[in-house]
Amino acid sequence: EKGTYPHYMLKEIDEQPLVIRNIISKYQKENGEIKLDEDIRKAMQAADRIYIIAAGTSYHAGLVGKQLIESIAKKPVETHIASEFLYNMPLVSEKPLFIFISQSGETADSRGVLVNVKKLGYPALTITNVPGSTLSREADFTLHTYAGPEIAVASTKAYTAQMAVLAILAVDTAKARGLTLDFDPIKELSIVGTVMETLCDQKEALEKIAREYLSVTRNCFFIGRASDYYVGLEGALKLKEISYIQAEGFAGGELKHGTIALIEEGTPVIALATQKHVNLSIRGNVKEVAARGANPCIISLEGLNADNDAFVLPKVHDYLTPLVAVIPLQLISYYAALHRGCDVDKPRNLAKSVTVE
Ligand code: F6R
Repeated sequence: EKGTYPHYMLKEIDEQPLVIRNIISKYQKENGEIKLDEDIRKAMQAADRIYIIAAGTSYHAGLVGKQLIESIAKKPVETHIASEFLYNMPLVSEKPLFIFISQSGETADSRGVLVNVKKLGYPALTITNVPGSTLSREADFTLHTYAGPEIAVASTKAYTAQMAVLAILAVDTAKARGLTLDFDPIKELSIVGTVMETLCDQKEALEKIAREYLSVTRNCFFIGRASDYYVGLEGALKLKEISYIQAEGFAGGELKHGTIALIEEGTPVIALATQKHVNLSIRGNVKEVAARGANPCIISLEGLNADNDAFVLPKVHDYLTPLVAVIPLQLISYYAALHRGCDVDKPRNLAKSVTVE
């Protein structure tokens, strides 16, 4: 039930701090160590390369997952769109492990790939919000995202839950390989939960941003580099699906290779600047679009912020920044859709679970 909330989407955005705490409690042993099925641990160790397969928002979580597993566990990962992998399967490594990410566990495109890789004899792990779903039953292993039922068509809490579980899997894999970590993953995840709460309390500021940048525009671009690019893709998907604004996410460096031609007087460009190593280059991209008339909205991180940034995120561990950076984007999308009179929870032409190809 949505209780006093006007929409499930807003309720589900607000539930994210709780979901993170829930995930921590489900994946933590009493002694503080990570609790994970030994068979999953072994499958991660045995794999020489990991293939993440997903669609839509879950694909965007998979992009962040690649970065988490590669940087924390030092294992090579490829993330693929399920429907593409289905018809254009790349050569795979000798000992692949397939990870399917799916909120519903019923997405036909992902299931198609699962059926194929099982035929080829490869191991598969499903990360899902619905244990007992088709993808969970047909894979060898399941990791539960514990986000609770997600009713709004636009996925929010399932996405952050998927990234949190991927971070836990990455850390567990690193430890099982004997790598030493210079951070306490559980502590860092609890900080994420607290920061999410702070962000959910900033609805007024985010509603104002939505009103200022998005109440009349026809289109909106999201730019970022590295993980900010992945979060930007998710921000664009969220915005387009519920507000019907044509929204697209781009890698900052790609702008000059084409997209910049679309910038007109007043075009909103939401730029994410949450990482030190790309802070100067993304701000350079912002200058380029501003010089062509764009209306830039910079979302940055404490310590990296500059005058005139529209919104500044509190700091969390670098690896986990995507989990908090997406919250303002979810809320901006929500308010943009609301201001434009759209049906937030049930956008046109979309279904919660896509069980046909
Ligand atoms: C976006 C959204 C969709 C789903 C996609 C995959 O808000 O909800 O893009 O993420 O259809 O669904 P699952 O995760 O159920 O496989």
